Amino acid sequence: MIEGNQQHEVYCADSMELLDKVEADIIYLDPPYNQRQYAPNYHLLETIAKYDSPDIYGVAGLRPYDEQKSTFCNAVTALRDLEIIAKEGNYKYIVLSYNNEGIMKEEDIHKVLEKYGELKLIEKSYSRFKSHNRTKNAVKKVKEQLYILKKYV
Ligand SMILES: C[S@@+](CC[C@H](N)C(=O)[O-])C[C@H]1O[C@@H](n2cnc3c(N)ncnc32)[C@H](O)[C@@H]1O
Repeated sequence: MIEGNQQHEVYCADSMELLDKVEADIIYLDPPYNQRQYAPNYHLLETIAKYDSPDIYGVAGLRPYDEQKSTFCNAVTALRDLEIIAKEGNYKYIVLSYNNEGIMKEEDIHKVLEKYGELKLIEKSYSRFKSHNRTKNAVKKVKEQLYILKKYV
């Protein structure tokens, strides 16, 4: 726990369900970049955190995760929900953390966000995660990106 004298609220929920409940100066988004769902990949941590005993299945002993699938793991639904956040969220700024190899293409992110405010993109070259980097000619760098949207007032 981080102690402080500021008031704050913490939610454990799908961000799409919080849109009409939260008013923020900054909405910071750090969604999945690819099609791999987090729930089946981090199922052991999930079970430790929940300390429950669900009916598990498969060789890896997965928890059922239908209710936890993220729309940000699919290019079409990710862009759709990014637009819903930009359009319906109560915020002054959106900061989206992403990279140039994410399933939402840079051009599409621009198209969606620029409708709702002034958009700035900050990029930094970064060494690619090693498991994608084994072949000799593999690109070794990715561009880590911060899209900063200042909402039109
Ligand atoms: C790239 S990770 C970011 C994790 C975190 N920012 C960090 O640095 O540790 C993406 C996270 O978003 C979560 N996520 C995906 N879709 C979500 C949604 N619709 N609402 C809330 N969280 C979501 C995933 O479960 C995962 O934990």
